[in-house]
Amino acid sequence: MTQITSSKPLITVVGAASKQGRSVAESLLDSGRYRVRALTRRHDSEAAQSLSRKGAEIVTAPLQAGMQAELTVAMHGSAGAFLMTPPIVRVPPADTEFTIGREMADAALGAGVEHVVFSGLENVEARTGGTKWAPHFTDKARIEDHIRGLPIRSSFVYLAFFYTNFLEYYVPQRGNDGLTFAIYLPPEVPVPFCDPLTAAGPAVREIFDHSEKYASKSLPVIGEILTAQEMVDTFVRVTGQPAHYASAYSREELLHHFPSFAADEPLVRELIGMVEYAVEYGYYARERDLTWSRDIDTGALTWETFLRRADWKGDLRTFAS
Ligand SMILES: NC(=O)c1ccc[n+]([C@@H]2O[C@H](COP(=O)([O-])OP(=O)(O)OC[C@H]3O[C@@H](n4cnc5c(N)ncnc54)[C@H](OP(=O)(O)O)[C@@H]3O)[C@@H](O)[C@H]2O)c1
Repeated sequence: MTQITSSKPLITVVGAASKQGRSVAESLLDSGRYRVRALTRRHDSEAAQSLSRKGAEIVTAPLQAGMQAELTVAMHGSAGAFLMTPPIVRVPPADTEFTIGREMADAALGAGVEHVVFSGLENVEARTGGTKWAPHFTDKARIEDHIRGLPIRSSFVYLAFFYTNFLEYYVPQRGNDGLTFAIYLPPEVPVPFCDPLTAAGPAVREIFDHSEKYASKSLPVIGEILTAQEMVDTFVRVTGQPAHYASAYSREELLHHFPSFAADEPLVRELIGMVEYAVEYGYYARERDLTWSRDIDTGALTWETFLRRADWKGDLRTFAS
């Protein structure tokens, strides 16, 4: 277990039981250079208990709007904070993700935190002139804008698409001719992916290790840039199982492969806006450094090494805490 001593800076990790949060908390603890306060709704979850065994202090604090006072208390005494927003069920015109993010940031300021690292994404609204609707990107960019206006040091990590999406949300279907990967991307367009469970931590730890150097920086976190067809081909090669790609890029294709999505029109609109944005404009703005995360984390998982490590054969996996 990591030795807790008060001489080490304390970092509060918001959403510590999330895939990203777990990675960040574990990387900070494993370094032996930080104390970690892990914020979660459920202190008795497996994820929380695992972090506790590694030396984290577990504090109950829900990620929801209207909790700024509680978050301020929860972050008290922290030198740094990793902030993330959970997946939000979007019911327009509610602005829940932005509100949660703004309140978390204001709480960090109120608690006297010196440096916040926020898990953000590009501003799709601005980059597309309002033609694509992907509020879970744009709202993070609006939170980033808010944080940049605060008198607090800040840095931003932009995680690529998660490999885990195919394990927990877009699971391949088994048929007579093998697995069908219905993928929300066209077959030949290279897009960035990462493993949130292992990639977020090294990036955020690097930033806290060199706090001044990374002040005001927005940094992509990438494991590999590859096409949907390459993902399927790699899966076949690694697992030896027959599998083929099917497009779920258009609305009709998406609803054909995932009919249950039809019950949630904002989700469908958002998914389509997101993938059209990524394909037509690029997931990252042109000026981003696409090599940084792989330079500072040379063990960053490619899709192939992710598959081998996870020993994933196409089954449904859950990463719930
Ligand atoms: N999927 C992708 O390809 C992708 C790519 C880039 C960025 N992102 C962003 O990543 C974020 C999600 O990160 P993740 O996948 O690491 O999270 P996750 O594993 O889904 O976990 C989210 C955590 O937030 C807490 N939570 C969930 N729903 C909540 C609610 N309604 N109220 C309060 N707390 C809630 C839960 O922790 P407790 O139970 O402990 O409270 C949960 O462990 C989203 O903002 C998403 O937009 C996703």
